[in-house]
Amino acid sequence: MSSSTSSAPTRALKIGIIGFGPFAQFLVQTMSKQGHSIRATSRSDCSEQCAHLGVTFIRDMDEFLQSDNEVILLCTSIVSLSEVIKSMPLHYLKHPTLFAEVLSVKEYPRHVLLKALPPEIDLLCTHPMFGPESGKDGWKGLTFMYEKVRIRNEDICSRFLHIFASEGCKMLEMTCEEHDKLAARSQFLTHTIGRVLAEMQIEPTPIDTKGFQQLVHVKETTAKHSFDLFSGLFVHNRFARQQLKNLEIAFANIKQKLLLQERMNDKMDLSLSKY
Ligand SMILES: NC(=O)c1ccc[n+]([C@@H]2O[C@H](COP(=O)([O-])OP(=O)(O)OC[C@H]3O[C@@H](n4cnc5c(N)ncnc54)[C@H](OP(=O)(O)O)[C@@H]3O)[C@@H](O)[C@H]2O)c1
Repeated sequence: MSSSTSSAPTRALKIGIIGFGPFAQFLVQTMSKQGHSIRATSRSDCSEQCAHLGVTFIRDMDEFLQSDNEVILLCTSIVSLSEVIKSMPLHYLKHPTLFAEVLSVKEYPRHVLLKALPPEIDLLCTHPMFGPESGKDGWKGLTFMYEKVRIRNEDICSRFLHIFASEGCKMLEMTCEEHDKLAARSQFLTHTIGRVLAEMQIEPTPIDTKGFQQLVHVKETTAKHSFDLFSGLFVHNRFARQQLKNLEIAFANIKQKLLLQERMNDKMDLSLSKY
């Protein structure tokens, strides 16, 4: 694992985005502010959102891939990845093109894209560890993870990374495997706890402690993400299943400790009542 800040040149990039959902719309605001030229395609008609953000919307995938993109940035849901890739006529990609993606799991897109992309296309796997909520006041100090999976054109790659480095992101280079191990223990756990709290319908009370306010915050922020995103964190991260088991075991252990304590207290009460 290594961290770095890029001092790459700032010439604007031509970036084509696939999947214009909440996260792409969030990223585009900063990319546009930096002067990059952006076009997008998506399953749904996103022409209105695109017009609002100064992005050219190209409905037709063939036309989109044939347009002049230096970077293709994949921002679709994790669970739709293989369907999206299958539907793309990848032979239209022009060389040099950097293919980058921001999926919240990393080994899975790395594997699928290495198999699907023509060998002359560069591949950068990334995960910005923030989103519309945590990054709403800027990206300074927020972590940006990446693995340069297959990079020959260092110039385009470093200009792309510079988008995040120049906003003050903490740039962390690590393998996709390392990412998935850590993310299962951190991000997946957070989303799971948040979903459990939502199932319990926890709500603020007039006597909230700071700790409870934080729990409500976790519930509310995880609920803003789609179920597709949450299920993708589980289905396509091979380390997540173990974390779910650990959570179940930990819950059972805590419950057992409490019930044991309750039994001991009952016994004590019983023996005291004899006097
Ligand atoms: N939200 C975050 O904070 C965050 C942070 C870091 C990384 N990410 C990653 O960024 C990506 C996008 O996340 P998101 O928050 O925008 O929500 P998401 O629910 O994970 O993905 C929504 C996007 O996926 C597309 N999509 C869904 N099913 C599809 C299908 N069957 N075929 C084609 N496209 C499909 C949607 O297209 P349409 O809108 O056109 O239907 C939309 O662009 C995900 O991979 C996520 O893991 C998200």
